[in-house]
Amino acid sequence: MGMPSTWQQGLSWLRAPTNELAFAMRNALRWSRGAPILPDEGKQDLFAALSPAARAQAERVANELTQRYDLHRLLARSTRASWAGSLQHLLGLERLVGTLPLPMGADGVVRALDVGCGDFHYATALQRWLARQASTSTTAANSNSPATASSVVLRGIELDGHGLYADWRSRADHARAHADLAAVAGSTVLFQVGDFTRLALPTQDVVTAFFPFLTSYACLRWGAPVSRCSPRRLLARAVATVRPGGWLLVVNQTNDECGRLRRLLAQHPVELVASCEWQCDLVPWRESTCGQIGSLWRRSLG
Ligand SMILES: C[S@@+](CC[C@H](N)C(=O)[O-])C[C@H]1O[C@@H](n2cnc3c(N)ncnc32)[C@H](O)[C@@H]1O
Repeated sequence: MGMPSTWQQGLSWLRAPTNELAFAMRNALRWSRGAPILPDEGKQDLFAALSPAARAQAERVANELTQRYDLHRLLARSTRASWAGSLQHLLGLERLVGTLPLPMGADGVVRALDVGCGDFHYATALQRWLARQASTSTTAANSNSPATASSVVLRGIELDGHGLYADWRSRADHARAHADLAAVAGSTVLFQVGDFTRLALPTQDVVTAFFPFLTSYACLRWGAPVSRCSPRRLLARAVATVRPGGWLLVVNQTNDECGRLRRLLAQHPVELVASCEWQCDLVPWRESTCGQIGSLWRRSLG
């Protein structure tokens, strides 16, 4: 997505009253039909549009990720879009973080929170990555002793959880199904509808935000209530929720958006540890991943 023109930005404000009203109605109705059974959409021709060589490479990478993160259950219980999006995030997370040791509590538990998780379709990918990164960090820290099994407590929080999907279930219904699928023995994956900036939450080792709204244009285009989506408030709260030495990990849609993130975070006690492209050939919408950027920030100890 390129930079919107001034006209586009101006016109997007015409959506504001409808977005506010629809959000208020969704919240009053709080529609729910319970968690859906997640579908098993065929993934065989996911890479069909690629050249034979690129296709073979994509299949190899997807197989490796499936083995490395034990994604078999997700593979059998996901749409093509959720599956491909999960692979994209895993590749991005590996590229961004590499072998850096994951911050975790003294009890070996990693407490992580995803802000604005939408329907949390990537919950399994995020949980598996956190668990694997935690266990490799523990192994490296105790190279003379056997690895301590680390567990993960992952929470997804979404402001607009009562939005309706085409199957007449709510975003929260879908998110709960994805959270349930992601939870494995020793780990907890929770989903909560609410405004992250207003909830009382425990401090976290890791806070993630995949494609947060950093402009009112993005918020208005998405159909969200602009009155409730303040990037300043969201980032201030995200930093405050990370414990000293913990991580804030953000993925942005564009370079400009990432620039805005840097400017907003400049006022906060965080330092940039790494950043990298989030572009990915494994998703059918590969062109729109061009320009996506992930960045990793560490909360200062002081
Ligand atoms: C562009 S969407 C990204 C959704 C999801 N992370 C993904 O990658 O599919 C941004 C999400 O942040 C949510 N959001 C915005 N402000 C929020 C807040 N204060 N608390 C919780 N969620 C918020 C929006 O409702 C929206 O679902």
